[in-house]
Amino acid sequence: MGSRIGVGLLGLGTVGGGVASILLSPDERHPLVADLDLVRVAVRDLDRPRPVDLSADQLTKDPEAVVNDPSVDVVVEVIGGIEPARSLILKAISNGKSVVTANKAVIARHGREIADAAAAAGVYVLIEAAVGGGIPIIEPLKQSLGGNRINRVSGIINGTTNYILTRMATEGVAYDDVIAEAQRLGYAEADPAADVDGLDAADKIAILAALAFGGAIDRSGVPTEGISSLQGRDVEYASQLGYGVKLLAVAERMTDQGATDVLPLSLRVQPTLVPTDHPLAGVNGVNNAILVEGDPIGRVMFYGPGAGAGPTASAVVADILNIAGVRHASEAAGRLDPLLAADSWRQCKLVDPGDVRQKHYVRFHTSDTPGVIGRIGSCFGDRDVSIQSIVQFRANEAGAEIVVITHDVTQKQMDDALKEIQSMPEISGMAAHLGCL
Ligand code: HSE
Repeated sequence: MGSRIGVGLLGLGTVGGGVASILLSPDERHPLVADLDLVRVAVRDLDRPRPVDLSADQLTKDPEAVVNDPSVDVVVEVIGGIEPARSLILKAISNGKSVVTANKAVIARHGREIADAAAAAGVYVLIEAAVGGGIPIIEPLKQSLGGNRINRVSGIINGTTNYILTRMATEGVAYDDVIAEAQRLGYAEADPAADVDGLDAADKIAILAALAFGGAIDRSGVPTEGISSLQGRDVEYASQLGYGVKLLAVAERMTDQGATDVLPLSLRVQPTLVPTDHPLAGVNGVNNAILVEGDPIGRVMFYGPGAGAGPTASAVVADILNIAGVRHASEAAGRLDPLLAADSWRQCKLVDPGDVRQKHYVRFHTSDTPGVIGRIGSCFGDRDVSIQSIVQFRANEAGAEIVVITHDVTQKQMDDALKEIQSMPEISGMAAHLGCL
């Protein structure tokens, strides 16, 4: 699509491996991905087995070789921790390279220093992957919600603890077993204390608050309580009372402080009972969700996988593409930013609706006679429609209601079966036919 963009990767662990595998398989992704060359990758151990095929020329044990390489335009920092990450980011910036990082610890503590250095060098530092894994939340706060006065940002922003709490609540699994599982799945930090003690969530809420409220946040002033001393029985009691327990991070504008020159904010991270009908209550497993409340938008929630190789790599690559898009646009006078312009890059067509497979929900009015459920089931079975569940409700002299939920079937299969069923004498009608996820 345009000139090549050299990418240098610092770290080839869970997230780095995910990024490399996207860059090395550009087919069917945005065409700008094909313009990205993974030129240098710094790893700790050259002999370790890798998730992707890289040549000896691409690999180095020296991270300085990546940030100093003239063919690298964008440095991706996914080694985590404060040092050497901070120094490498600053070095890359001073070498005129843009930086993409997933490192919430370094951004929460040194974000101002890094942003000032980037502004002075005229390069970008993008951090979409630092909060919420694969969920786009940084760009929306920076751009899409810019017309709002933000009052509150709250959410579940640590996947590991949400995974642990969910499994404890639903399966009664022991804490130690779940944390080992979270580490195996690539959700947990190298030191899981950052997750379970709430420190990772505190880093992330400090970053979100800085963007939402437009001011630097003193990370060390965020009251933080994790889940390591949470008792299973409290989760159980909360559940009987109609609540789930979530590790919630909150940043809100305080309106009761009178007139002040500085914006009063409250930030905190703590285990919190959430009513089961609250939008955050249904956020389970490794998923994260961030609820933004602003004027005039009201409430908007961002939801999705909050940790893991694929989701975090998705956010990292989005940032690389943003830098590539801006660069392509500025290189060619009069050309639009290819990401903002969203040109078509392939031909599309709509398929015959009869070939579309999905689950179906159907409710029939029937007579309450022996064998009716069996006959409905056989009719579906004869047309290869597999049933997920079939339940009879409300049977009396007036008849019965039978609800069927199918597995995925084509619309054609379903229509054939329904035509046959509706012609059966004991079926007085089809009361509802809905799609089902
Ligand atoms: N350990 C983090 C989490 C990874 O569990 O959410 C993503 O930042």
